Amino acid sequence: MELLEEQRETWGTRGGFVLAAVGSAVGLGNLWGFPYKLYSYGGGAFLIPYIVAMFCIGIPLLILEFSLGHFTQRAAPDAFRRANKRLEFIGWWGIILGFVIITYYPIILAYCFSYMGDSIAAIFSGQPLPWAGEGVEGVQNASNYFFKDYLTGGTYIGPFRSEILYMLILAWVLMYFCIFRGVKLVGKIVWLTVPLPWIMLVILAVRGLTLDGCMKGLAFYLDPDWTQLAKPTTWRFAFGQVFFSLSLAFGVMLTYASFLHRKSDINNNAAIIGIADFATSFIGGIAIFATIGGMAYVTSQAGQPVPVNEVINGGPGLAFVAFPYALAQLPAAAWWSLIFFFMLVTLGIDSAFSITESVLAGIVDKTGWRRSIVLPTMSIVGIGTGLMYITIDGLSFLGTVDGFVNGTWGIAFIGLIECVALGWFSRLDVLRQHANERSDWRLGRWWNLLIRVLIPVVLGTLFFWSLYDNIQEFNAGKFLRDTEGKWLIDDCVGMGIMAAACILAVSMSFIRSPHNKAEKQLPRQELIKTSSARATGIVGFAIAVLALLVFIYIRTGRQNQALLFVSMGVGVASLVLCHILMERFDNGVSRPSHFARWGGLLSIISISLCVLVILTELSKKVAGTHKAPIEHADHLSGTSYTILGVVFVLIVFGLGWCFWRAIMAASANEPEQQPES
Ligand code: PFF
Repeated sequence: MELLEEQRETWGTRGGFVLAAVGSAVGLGNLWGFPYKLYSYGGGAFLIPYIVAMFCIGIPLLILEFSLGHFTQRAAPDAFRRANKRLEFIGWWGIILGFVIITYYPIILAYCFSYMGDSIAAIFSGQPLPWAGEGVEGVQNASNYFFKDYLTGGTYIGPFRSEILYMLILAWVLMYFCIFRGVKLVGKIVWLTVPLPWIMLVILAVRGLTLDGCMKGLAFYLDPDWTQLAKPTTWRFAFGQVFFSLSLAFGVMLTYASFLHRKSDINNNAAIIGIADFATSFIGGIAIFATIGGMAYVTSQAGQPVPVNEVINGGPGLAFVAFPYALAQLPAAAWWSLIFFFMLVTLGIDSAFSITESVLAGIVDKTGWRRSIVLPTMSIVGIGTGLMYITIDGLSFLGTVDGFVNGTWGIAFIGLIECVALGWFSRLDVLRQHANERSDWRLGRWWNLLIRVLIPVVLGTLFFWSLYDNIQEFNAGKFLRDTEGKWLIDDCVGMGIMAAACILAVSMSFIRSPHNKAEKQLPRQELIKTSSARATGIVGFAIAVLALLVFIYIRTGRQNQALLFVSMGVGVASLVLCHILMERFDNGVSRPSHFARWGGLLSIISISLCVLVILTELSKKVAGTHKAPIEHADHLSGTSYTILGVVFVLIVFGLGWCFWRAIMAASANEPEQQPES
């Protein structure tokens, strides 16, 4: 075992690791997911749930994944197995969902390659871009070009659109060559694929900000609609976006950290990656909305104003209709378009290969098979499954699958299971100490409280909320079945994939691995003889059961709602008690009783359910007081300037502080972080 660990490859440098992790985090999701969601869910107001989610959930969870990966030096399934023998399925679950993403993510890259080809052809031929046009007609051109000519026109090989197929193969070949030599090479490639899109994004942002009318675009982006904060969907999308954007719960970050040098920092790296990801999303939003503002100005000057809210219609619409149209209005349009799509490719490619790497490492670590066999096989399977999305209805199917991966049973749910599993059923404090021993700054015990208590309650509430929404939609004939009772095929396939992912994950965890015999677990608890505070644990557990029973009693019997607060209070008491037991007794000398663990889990469930009931009641009230949509002025409001300022201060000071800590730590500890020989 020791030999195996010594042989594990490492990133060449700390920078290589940080850039690779940033490369995975910063992807297509930043450029269309974030700005589009921000625009649709309250503009500047959306930043509140997003920042809360990033700093209170995203970064702490990133630290958790980094510590587990680094501690165990294994990819996700084996890493979870070492935390607790029964937890391996969590690693597989994330990896399998990652694999679902990798079936469709390269499709978007394939679109980008085609658009790059069109731009290059326009540069050489001197002809206008094929989607170019003016005013409302121009938007229609761009839309028809994407949805009709490109996605469903042209030639076919069987039911598959041939041009997209060739580009899909190109995307996989590129991904293959990026990772086939292992992480050392990845650590070098990311020096190109991470800074390049940043540079191009800044160029596009500056270009956008110099266009007439850009301020109107920024007003669309930043003017806050505070009422959106009272809607659950706003919070859900903000939290989901943070998970997707930071590549959390897919085993990617965990796997990347498993290749990290033994002495390398963990906490500061996580903070840098989180803030850099946020900064990219925010600046991406500025580039996009300033350019769209410019477009709105040009078209209204020409007497054919384009309704901005119709142009920004979902992610693909933003990247393949609105932006191409807006860029086609500029001088040297083909060059700008080439820069934009090349940027999308460099942005997406490192995210795509990070998922491939995590699936690959999971399989290799489990089976001991050679990378040189697993990677080509995976690439062929990836291309094969990608075929589903290049049929006539491919894009809508892609949207459905993406919705499920980010939906109720998707990543945020796995994140919840991850926190509960590592917080209550493993030794969380060992991971905290492991991270602290090598980091530029240290985590206090508050981190345990976050991972074990606060994050699970928040994610638990969101999970039950989504489930409640799904049930409502199902009853209204909008989910799985329509009003006539006919099954909705796309939804059913999506749901089937999610169920299959779960079943497959559990089955994989039963397969014996050649490494299992030699495995080294987190310090074993069974060896410890002293007190487990069993009696107090039983009390905690009993109170948690009581809280749940009171909740069920209120809901089934439609009893006095004030009792809800009693149930919640009892749940909180039990949670606090169980958490204290975990903190006091999970110290390597003693071990906490199993009752405390299960009591913690039950109280999380009951508190989440109570919070859900309160929030749904509140949001019903807000839904009644709906305001008219806000009118956007041609300039930024004072509030928007304040939001802009606050976000910039947060980013600049946040990153500045992290780098300062890194420099201080490096000067105090000279030989650390050297490239491994
Ligand atoms: N974080 C990437 C993005 O924002 O586009 C997407 C992604 C990469 C998701 C890696 C999941 C993952 F494992």
